[in-house]
Amino acid sequence: MSRPKISVIGAGNVGATTALMIAQQELGDVVLVDIVEGMPQGKALDMMEMNPVYGYDVNITGTNGYEETAGSDVVVITSGIPRKPGMSRDDLIATNTAIVTEVTKNVAAKSPNAILILVTNPLDAMVYVAHKVSGFPKERVMGMAGVLDAARFRAFIGMELGVSVENIHAFVLGGHGDDMVPLTRCTTVAGVPVTELIPAERLEEIVKRTRGGGGEIVALLKTGSAFYAPAVSAVEMVEAILRDKKKILPCCVLAEGEYGVDNTFVGLPVKLGRKGIEEIFQVALSDKEKEEIKISASHVKELCDHIDKTAKN
Ligand code: APR
Repeated sequence: MSRPKISVIGAGNVGATTALMIAQQELGDVVLVDIVEGMPQGKALDMMEMNPVYGYDVNITGTNGYEETAGSDVVVITSGIPRKPGMSRDDLIATNTAIVTEVTKNVAAKSPNAILILVTNPLDAMVYVAHKVSGFPKERVMGMAGVLDAARFRAFIGMELGVSVENIHAFVLGGHGDDMVPLTRCTTVAGVPVTELIPAERLEEIVKRTRGGGGEIVALLKTGSAFYAPAVSAVEMVEAILRDKKKILPCCVLAEGEYGVDNTFVGLPVKLGRKGIEEIFQVALSDKEKEEIKISASHVKELCDHIDKTAKN
């Protein structure tokens, strides 16, 4: 049996870290693609030279083209410009739409059966673009945001309570923007609702920090955006798919009526397995939570309409 093949497009901070983490988990062979000549080749070779020390057996190839990506099982798209201080994720839209369009065309031509995981921001709008350009079924086009947002929420709750993050279970739904929806009601610490452990006011501060989690790192780094947590979050999705784990994770998917959202890409809990999105998982939400998801989805819809309008002009 041959190893699965995972292509990672964009060999910058998020892409290279993703490739590294995929190799470290021996999830399959990795092809790292970037437009900068020599850079993906250099990073891939450097990672190949780590193999003997770690003892993992995977091939990591760097390239500036798409030949080597042919027949990929999963493709993680990270190519694009990252945020700078003062920029919102939405500010990246024109540049990253053009990049994601070009990349998706190339990827889809070489790997018509691949599952696409988008990481490029503004996330939900970029998943929309990749879905449209690839023509792939909705089960095979998704975005990584909810896993990262939930990881940030879990990290902050862990810091607050001084307990293992392994005990903390959380969902963050909605679009990957300032109006994302951390579900405090469904967030538990060793099975105990977090609302019983952290006073409401303090919890609201933690929710606020989660919403601004990406911006907090952009402000500190000054020249780029977060990459360790985004990369590991994408890799959790790759693993769930390739190992057919049927894991319930919050991912950006095309909602067609689920949670009261129609025909919009937005973060919802899904079951991830070898076929991609195998089910949109239904969680009973309060009216307030449903309303928040709807508002967040309407913001995504505006961005996608803007992309369509600009494309026509
Ligand atoms: N094809 C392939 N690679 C490209 C293309 C393209 N058309 N255009 C740009 N790239 C590459 C760049 O050369 C760069 O190496 O994408 C890489 C992006 O890497 P970084 O600048 O380090 O950005 P990174 O921090 O990895 O973020 C990438 O992920 O989290 C999001 O908001 C973030 O949209 C951004 C993306």
